[in-house]
Amino acid sequence: MEAISSKHLITSLFIIIASSFTAQSARKVSERPYQEASIVFIRTSCSSTTYPTLCYSSLVKHADLIQTNRMVLTGTALNVTLASAKSTAAMMLALGKRQGLKPREVAAMKDCVEELRDSVDELRRSIDEMSHLRTSNFEMTMSDVQTWVSAALTDESTCSDGFQETATGATNIKSTVRGEVVQIAQLTSNALALINQLANSHG
Ligand SMILES: *[C@@H]1O[C@H](CO)[C@@H](O)[C@H](O)[C@H]1NC(C)=O
Repeated sequence: MEAISSKHLITSLFIIIASSFTAQSARKVSERPYQEASIVFIRTSCSSTTYPTLCYSSLVKHADLIQTNRMVLTGTALNVTLASAKSTAAMMLALGKRQGLKPREVAAMKDCVEELRDSVDELRRSIDEMSHLRTSNFEMTMSDVQTWVSAALTDESTCSDGFQETATGATNIKSTVRGEVVQIAQLTSNALALINQLANSHG
């Protein structure tokens, strides 16, 4: 008798667990249509950027926010780029103070931090401009945003080029920093492509 009731207990436990799994997967399925639309939208929008894989991986995390809104997609791309530029500038500032760097490398690092800071300012300005985007000022605002983001891209390229020219030695730091800056420039280039898409979508 006791054996039977514990068997029953196990069976009912199993049923409870199984049905909670079913409920969970049912919820996932019902969430899917809108999420899938967002994922398709992000992938399609990214496909015309220069670095589509990076574009997709940096934005798909924010699919819930982006949904299928081109303006939010573009704003998110700028925010992601700004966050990345800020953290790299901070990292470089810390690395530049480390021992064992040659004077030329310290100088390159300093220049680079300056250029990154300029690009952070320019990205901030473009994000601020985007927040004032209206139908009435659309063309002028988009044109300003394009200008700021292009300037940010130029500063980042100057930084990564400057790094390439410095002497050998401290190679790990150099390639780490350069890799980070190159990625920021790629994120910026993608954001610019999305900005151009947004600008063209209105015309
Ligand atoms: C981007 O960041 C700004 C400033 O923090 C914020 O106001 C805006 O909502 C963000 N945009 C998106 C699309 O997340």
